[in-house]
Amino acid sequence: MKCVDDFRLQLGSEEVVPIMIGGMGVDISTPQLALEAVRLGGIGHLSDAMMMDTADRYFGKHFTRDKTRANMASMNTMDKSNVRFNLGMLAEATRMHVSGAMEAKRGHGLLFINLMEKLTMNASRETMQTRMVAALDAGIDGITLAAGLNQNSFHLIQDHPRFRDAKLGIVVSSARALQIFIRRNAKLQRLPDYVIVEGPLAGGHLGFGMDWAKFDLKTIMDEVQAYLKKENLDIPLIAAGGIFTGTDAVDFLENGASAVQVATRFTISRESGLPEAAKQAYLSAMEEDIEVNMQSPTGYPMRMLKNTPAIGQGIRPNCEAYGYLLENGKCEYIDAYEQAVKLVADRDKTAVNDRICLCTHMRNYDVWTCGHNTYRLKDTTRRLEDGSYLLPSAEHIFKDYQFSKDQKILLPE
Ligand SMILES: Cc1cc2nc3c(=O)[nH]c(=O)nc-3n(C[C@H](O)[C@H](O)[C@H](O)COP(=O)(O)O)c2cc1C
Repeated sequence: MKCVDDFRLQLGSEEVVPIMIGGMGVDISTPQLALEAVRLGGIGHLSDAMMMDTADRYFGKHFTRDKTRANMASMNTMDKSNVRFNLGMLAEATRMHVSGAMEAKRGHGLLFINLMEKLTMNASRETMQTRMVAALDAGIDGITLAAGLNQNSFHLIQDHPRFRDAKLGIVVSSARALQIFIRRNAKLQRLPDYVIVEGPLAGGHLGFGMDWAKFDLKTIMDEVQAYLKKENLDIPLIAAGGIFTGTDAVDFLENGASAVQVATRFTISRESGLPEAAKQAYLSAMEEDIEVNMQSPTGYPMRMLKNTPAIGQGIRPNCEAYGYLLENGKCEYIDAYEQAVKLVADRDKTAVNDRICLCTHMRNYDVWTCGHNTYRLKDTTRRLEDGSYLLPSAEHIFKDYQFSKDQKILLPE
């Protein structure tokens, strides 16, 4: 019987342990977490979501305060079309975060950054280009493009000196999405170095509709493999979504995957950015406490705990400070908020029940997004005398994936 350590992922000249910890915004996949994967010989991801806010917290900067001041004129209106990101500041924040993590890098693994196209930031092309260029300038080993078809993303960096040497990959949830991406980039003669195939059991936003339960990762992997074979393309595929044990991972590695991307098990690691209370909430969750809903203003379904603190809160949209989801001055939360305000006499009593102000609440860790298997996390650790759960280290979880066999999960000491 094999374990994950019997396999290796080959990316160009690099050979790594075929375990990738997925990007988890906003800074749930902290540099500390990502760097553990790197130290242990795998691949870790930083998250680029709300980078200016993340850089403020890590480096004592004031990017968010400065952005708020520059956009004060929009404060008393729901028309946010004039809200702007300062591209210089955005680049500086990204460079600081990435270069800080790259300098701290130890071991033979690789450090990537997860970059979501859906963060449209009221100027999607310019901000996406700034984020990608800054990450490459700061020396990131690779960029994983996510949350969108990313049809133009390669074009935005085609002139960058590292365009052909940095590892560039994409997350897809269907063979069709990959086909669109590859056709769109044919002229650039630049294939992705890896493709993450994410099924419907993943955490965060899903690349499916509310009929997500009709799909399954194995079938999608087969379809993507068949497409690559038909096109005579050889690109490593990385399976993601619901891979909970080393044995689950081996199953994919023996059937055409070159690696696995995992996240849920690391949400409760000591190094994850979630606050302790959220980690304990994840650990105590039962299967019926987890839902896929349409609370995200992105329009994509999102999986979260039903008792996510952000649900039902009616805060004023905070786009002057954040505004990461603005597109032409709009965000679905603003619309939902405006509707809700009309229903109450006192603005302070506004409750928005069908959308979350994702920026503000993700930033405060009040959106408890999680993978389908979150209810199994309690089986991966021990309960302490006070009733709380012991938080395992990222190293413990990584090695459990790497060496375990026979569906066994090693509990932390
Ligand atoms: C808490 C959480 C946050 C996530 N945030 C992101 C994100 O910001 N961007 C992204 O592309 N994927 C995100 N994901 C998806 C993961 O990167 C990963 O592909 C997937 O969850 C793997 O499945 P697993 O959680 O069952 O192991 C998130 C997952 C979780 C659990």
